[in-house]
Amino acid sequence: MILSEKTNGYLPEQCAYAKRVQALLTERGVVSPKAHIVTFGCQQNVSDSERIKGMLLLCGYSLTEEITEADFILFNTCAVRGHAEDRVYGNVGATKKLKQANPNLMVSVCGCMAQQQSVASKFYKSYPYVDIVFGTQQYHRLPEFIYRRITGKRVYELTLDNADIVEDIPISRDGDLKGWLPIMYGCNNFCTYCIVPYVRGRERSRDPQEIIAEATKMINDGFKEIMLLGQNVNSYGKGESHGINFEKLLRMINDIPGDFRIRFMTSHPKDCTEELLDAIRDCKKVERHIHLPFQSGSSRILKQMNRHYDREGYLKLISAARERIPDVEFTSDIIVGFPGETYEDFCETLSLVKEVKFTSLFTFIYSPREGTPAATMPDPISREEKGKWFSELLVTQDEISKELNSSLIGKKMRVLCEEETADGLFTGKGEYYSSVTFEGNHDMIGKFVTVRVEKYENNTLYGTVIN
Ligand code: SAH
Ligand code: SF4
Ligand code: F3S
Repeated sequence: MILSEKTNGYLPEQCAYAKRVQALLTERGVVSPKAHIVTFGCQQNVSDSERIKGMLLLCGYSLTEEITEADFILFNTCAVRGHAEDRVYGNVGATKKLKQANPNLMVSVCGCMAQQQSVASKFYKSYPYVDIVFGTQQYHRLPEFIYRRITGKRVYELTLDNADIVEDIPISRDGDLKGWLPIMYGCNNFCTYCIVPYVRGRERSRDPQEIIAEATKMINDGFKEIMLLGQNVNSYGKGESHGINFEKLLRMINDIPGDFRIRFMTSHPKDCTEELLDAIRDCKKVERHIHLPFQSGSSRILKQMNRHYDREGYLKLISAARERIPDVEFTSDIIVGFPGETYEDFCETLSLVKEVKFTSLFTFIYSPREGTPAATMPDPISREEKGKWFSELLVTQDEISKELNSSLIGKKMRVLCEEETADGLFTGKGEYYSSVTFEGNHDMIGKFVTVRVEKYENNTLYGTVIN
């Protein structure tokens, strides 16, 4: 893995710390230091981890897939649901033994879970072998934290001051075909169930010129797909003086020369405007797919969730998108069993799923998050009952997925050939959300090919390359 991005704009003091870390590690006899990164959570975290890896390379580490051979282990954590958190405690606990075997090993925990004071304190008090704990707005200071730990006490940095975004952090990207491009950080929406605004801080948009420069560099480096990231990309640029909103940004990225595709997530229905739908229609490099989480089909529950739209508004938006963008595909997130949700409310979610026909759904059982308003709302429905509703939703969606996929038979798609499958076929996504598998050859990887869909079998679409 190589350090592909320029580092000359990155904070000079952090570059100096990185040099000092390199010298100190050599002095202490740590030959060819290795780092192992474990990432939990959403694409935002995956993207942050690519920058964390970039800074570790700058500090002289190389990356390893083997946790047992690492001199630096970092867990980039997620707090969105309880299950995500439980996995982290188990993983971090397992490093205690590794530290006994390698006294030079440093262990670090960062990300959304670490940003919560109670969790960070727990790591500090009950996990003495964790060396560095830092929050979501401090990761650009990693070289400094490593330096401080090598030369002194354990490090604990949780400042969440919504300061300016630090640009030019070195990036070590995980792939060379599809890449993440964060356009904004944080969230201002405070949906009542959600921890993200508390752990990520206020919404901050990157400068459009920085985004264009990063996108251009990615395209020049051979990337064929750029995924624009933000908790609510539709509110990009709000409150900034440059006047570039998400619609304009999409058009600007679409105008960058080159053969590539633009994807984006997540869109919040309340900020999805007709102008944005027009931009998606007009920009030929933008995928014909919108990930548009509706969370619940019941207007009563949507109000309790503080989502700022109702069932009718959401359905109107879907119709408006379908009118403007032929064949547009939708995916969505749904929460089952929000506090106070009744079976009747849940049936409204089911009926919305049947009405819209999403290509795919990301479904979650409500998980109370300490500090959020929903965590204090009465929640009389048992977990078991919610589990039954959840299964009902999965069965319903399964039928819809089959129906939608079968309806694609005969259709032509321009597919980015991404990889070979285990059985020697090739696969990739079209301009829509769905993936298609086909007979091909290695030369096709990284190129766009036109595929005609032939059949749908075992949850897979199969096609034939026609040019
Ligand atoms: N910003 C995105 C979502 C980010 S979190 C948006 O607004 O759509 C990803 C998904 O996790 C959410 O859409 C929601 O469906 C789910 N989620 C968030 N908090 C949750 C909780 N407390 N319990 C269960 N699911 C939750
Ligand atoms: Fe959470 Fe709502 Fe923000 Fe999405 S928009 S991150 S669900 S608070
Ligand atoms: Fe999890 Fe944080 Fe993403 S809470 S879902 S990693 S923004």
